[in-house]
Amino acid sequence: MKTIEWENNKLKLINQTKIPDELEYVYCDNYNEVIVAIKDMIVRGAPAIGVAASFGMALAYLNGEDMGRAAEEIKSARPTAINLFWAVDRVLNSDNPLEEALKMYCEDMDTNRAIGKYGCEIIDDGDTVLTHCNAGALACVDYGTALGVIRAAHSQSKNINVICDETRPRGQGARLSVWELQQDNIPVKLIPDVASGFLMSQGKIDKVVIGADRIAKGGVVNKIGSFMVAMAAKQHDVPFYVAAPLSTFDKDASIFDTVIEERDGDEVRYYGGARICPEGTEVINPAFDITPSEFITGIITENGIIDPI
Ligand code: MRU
Repeated sequence: MKTIEWENNKLKLINQTKIPDELEYVYCDNYNEVIVAIKDMIVRGAPAIGVAASFGMALAYLNGEDMGRAAEEIKSARPTAINLFWAVDRVLNSDNPLEEALKMYCEDMDTNRAIGKYGCEIIDDGDTVLTHCNAGALACVDYGTALGVIRAAHSQSKNINVICDETRPRGQGARLSVWELQQDNIPVKLIPDVASGFLMSQGKIDKVVIGADRIAKGGVVNKIGSFMVAMAAKQHDVPFYVAAPLSTFDKDASIFDTVIEERDGDEVRYYGGARICPEGTEVINPAFDITPSEFITGIITENGIIDPI
């Protein structure tokens, strides 16, 4: 299963808003449709957003659009994941946008396998691993970063159990990570976001592995709730790892300068289509948070495990 494919000069995407109920595909044949897919989270997860954006640039090129304008508009689709900006600039500065996009598509799969290879060194037989949000195949072209580490350990016949945080408000853990792991017959249990600290205090979580949207000086930006998990992990001496490709690094910037996306309040006001608070309730809905470096045991990259920066 690939989250993203290039088929007959169209970008083919798994519609992630429909999972786990339906496996539906969305086709984009111009860059504006790619922007909508990123904004509406048909495609989401930092590496997948990057690769989709690179094909958006390729579509702009094939359709004879103004490349500079396409680049600016695609970059404005979502503000936080650095992979979006990195991918658009890489294609913009290439001689052949389609070739470059296809190269990035292949690199993403190779990178995730390498992250999995290095990452499974930290997973012991019998471990229960907690993950937050979805840093799996659905967040990339295939295989995943955090879930790539889990897949690699499972394929080495390590007996592992996975715990997925629900990941309110959009439920990426419940809807996407659980679904993916079940497809691969990897034992998985779902917990409410508020339960991880208690489970750690009971010795029921051995390691945490999450993905990242941006890594810079001072820490890591990832899905909202990651920092709370990191604090609980530190309190209970549970190793806390981040798995991410080098394209997620912004080495010279401070992580505290990251623009954190604020999403529509209805994502919080409604659950499964039903309103869960009084009508008109004011909401704060940041999509990401910052985990400072001192909470992070190591960062698993395609070149090996490194210290946070
Ligand atoms: O809002 P999303 O679903 O795009 O957020 C995704 C995450 O936060 C992931 O953990 C991150 O992008 C890493 S995916 C390999």
